[in-house]
Amino acid sequence: MKKARIGILPGGGDCAGLNPAIKWVVKTATDERLVWERGISYEVFGIRDGWKGLLDVDPATWDTAGHIVPLNSEIVRTWDRYGGTMLGTSRYSPFDPKHETSKLVMQNIERLGLDALIVIGGDGTLAAATRFAREGINIIGIPKTIDKDLPETDYTLGYETALNVIVEEVDRLRTTAGSHKRIFVVETMGRTAGWLALEGGEACGAYIILIPEYDFSFDRVNELVMEGRRAGTRYEIVIAAEGAKPVGGTEVVRKEGVDSFGRKALGGIGEVVAREIEKGTGLETRSIVLSHLQRGGAPCAYDRRMGRYFGIAAVDLIVRRKFGNMVCLKNGMISCVPLESIYGRISRVDVATQYDPDRYNGRRTILRIEE
Ligand code: F6P
Repeated sequence: MKKARIGILPGGGDCAGLNPAIKWVVKTATDERLVWERGISYEVFGIRDGWKGLLDVDPATWDTAGHIVPLNSEIVRTWDRYGGTMLGTSRYSPFDPKHETSKLVMQNIERLGLDALIVIGGDGTLAAATRFAREGINIIGIPKTIDKDLPETDYTLGYETALNVIVEEVDRLRTTAGSHKRIFVVETMGRTAGWLALEGGEACGAYIILIPEYDFSFDRVNELVMEGRRAGTRYEIVIAAEGAKPVGGTEVVRKEGVDSFGRKALGGIGEVVAREIEKGTGLETRSIVLSHLQRGGAPCAYDRRMGRYFGIAAVDLIVRRKFGNMVCLKNGMISCVPLESIYGRISRVDVATQYDPDRYNGRRTILRIEE
């Protein structure tokens, strides 16, 4: 019976849901009961620290520095309960124009004898995966990112757990905000997509939600705050996506420069908005940055389920040798799309149908019933 090697590699920023996906890839691929039906058996190797693990590994000695971990059902048995990734990850791109290492990575994939590689990633990691697929590497993608900004899928692992963090933290803020009659500006992650801010804000009932897809005016924010106070509110919760910016302004960055995937380090808009509200309304305003708390913690039930389904579907694709695809969720069904169809694209909030640019909040019309 033929035995094939599968490598599994989470890359880019971590999030909840990675470990459940890894667990279910391993359990499905090594399921003894399916060997005869498939006519092939698999062994699974975890790659440590993202693409970097495939660069640093020495295929001649295999595991000398721990870049590759042989996985089996017993090892991964409890992994789905834990956040982050047991394999580690890194923001390392083998296609970084300043230091391209893709040839070495491909040589290592070949020398390790990996028949297929499952890559769990967001836009940067899966863009690299797509480029390797073009070079003939047998790749399957699994979508993950708390930003939910990958196109062609209704879900990316980690998103729902991050939303739960936003709701829990805002619930906690409400009590102290109310006691002191303060305004709290809560900065969420999400890069250039407003999903986390919008849907997190909707879930926690935020009064104002600022998203990167719609440039806001400080005057309008202050007007809305004062309107609330006139109506008798004691406090307000304002959610600001890290990528939100005022009309005529630019994104606020934590530090200059870009990472290995060419992306800015966004952060700081929450404090800017807080200062402007305090100046414009005279009301005491504080800001808080949820930052990496949104990526941490145990996966919620949905991420455990989706990690499981995506992991199983990824192995299904390998068994059928349908390489160059990303598993996805579309209209409630687990399915797959070509990696090429997501390359270089980002999914962002559609302001026309999902955002209220007047109230800076979610839409109050959802059903559009035809006459
Ligand atoms: O893409 C996920 C994400 O959490 C973004 O929302 C955020 O801008 C970025 O990663 C932060 O990256 P790092 O972990 O490198 O600071």
